[in-house]
Amino acid sequence: MIPILARPLIERKRDGGRIGSGEWRQLMAAYAAGTVPDYQMAALAMAIFFRGLDREETGALTDAMLRSGATLDLDHLGTPRLDKHSTGGVGDKVSLVLAPLIASLGVAVPMMSGRGLGHTGGTLDKLESIPGFRTGLSLAEATRQLETLGCALIGQTGEIAPADRKLYALRDATGTVECIPLIAASIMSKKLAEGLTGLVLDVKFGSGAFLPEKERGLDLARTMIELGADHGCPVIALLTAMDRPLGRACGNAVEVEESIMALRGEGPPDLMRVTYALGAEMLLLAGVVKDRDEARRRMEVAISSGKAVEHFQRIIEAQGGDPRVVDDPGLLPEAPECEVFAAPRGGVVAEVKPRAVGHGIIALGGGRTKVDDVVDPAVGFVIMARPGDVVKAGEPLATIYARDEAGVAAGRAALAEAIVVADEAPPPLPLIANRITEAGVEDYLEG
Ligand code: URA
Repeated sequence: MIPILARPLIERKRDGGRIGSGEWRQLMAAYAAGTVPDYQMAALAMAIFFRGLDREETGALTDAMLRSGATLDLDHLGTPRLDKHSTGGVGDKVSLVLAPLIASLGVAVPMMSGRGLGHTGGTLDKLESIPGFRTGLSLAEATRQLETLGCALIGQTGEIAPADRKLYALRDATGTVECIPLIAASIMSKKLAEGLTGLVLDVKFGSGAFLPEKERGLDLARTMIELGADHGCPVIALLTAMDRPLGRACGNAVEVEESIMALRGEGPPDLMRVTYALGAEMLLLAGVVKDRDEARRRMEVAISSGKAVEHFQRIIEAQGGDPRVVDDPGLLPEAPECEVFAAPRGGVVAEVKPRAVGHGIIALGGGRTKVDDVVDPAVGFVIMARPGDVVKAGEPLATIYARDEAGVAAGRAALAEAIVVADEAPPPLPLIANRITEAGVEDYLEG
């Protein structure tokens, strides 16, 4: 085979031309093998950032990244296989609740998640705050666990879409993350490698989202739905608000604790609404319920009967974690310092800014600024204040969990920026704004 030369492809894309399917395949295979250098791929990513990719090119890039690695073959399970993917937020622990909940209802959930980067948290970091929990299962181990428990909570192993893994790290360092075709191809190359029969997307919009503008969120959702359709995997998306954190806990261990509470039926209302809405879409796509009402009833029974939380306990045990955390969250890492953050004045909570909260978690040591930073699982915030709450001066709005006094001070500064108390509050974004399918965009009406 004549080695592919990246330079003419970079020049063609720079000048607004197209790259063909065969060219994408050769290019991404060569990139994964290390024969196309990062500097050429960085130049191409920037050309794509400005020139875009059409539907066929986005599909070909997705396919090329998917084929650069292994895929899960789960046909033998004989059950529907569904996953949920969020485009990233603050306090978004839905995956931790949804995966065991849906698996407890007989639908397989091969959930491959990511780590926190930027101001957003990552499911893998949260899970790893459970003592002993192992997210680095091989594909063979994940398959065995899916056969026994119908759920595996894993990271992108070296085996899955290695070309995406390299390209994503490169994009992160070259200012080319916020590009719809690149985000869509990156996410879908990993999701399609899971051997799914359907995928539900939680596309965030609002100030704390990767793509804050609603129209861009809708575009991203449509692009991923098209990619799914072109690869025989039905995809449905909900557009949900990220102009405030989801739930109260923001951090790693604190979010695991809130997820356990949610699986026990004691989750905060906003977290439960988003969880039930996404879960209903998963059960509908799996074809195991006839409508949203039935889906909701089945999820509520799984929670009230204890079946969902027991399933989580079994998954934790299977992945090497301490299953006793489910009955005793006190076994999760605890921060040595904790301080209440009080309202600086009376008024109404106008904003709880997710980006400021996310950056605060990083300042406490609970997130990363570089891929290889070590995360402190114990630190974070529990924020009781919600936009629209009327508060008195001195009333507790949040609790800061920190490693030391300097951490407490950093947490205090972050919350002072994040929580705005004013005379009046603008209306928050609708928690669940739209439902997007191949047929188009509809307003989300909760039944
Ligand atoms: N998550 C991914 O996996 N890839 C992106 O490009 C953005 C978010």
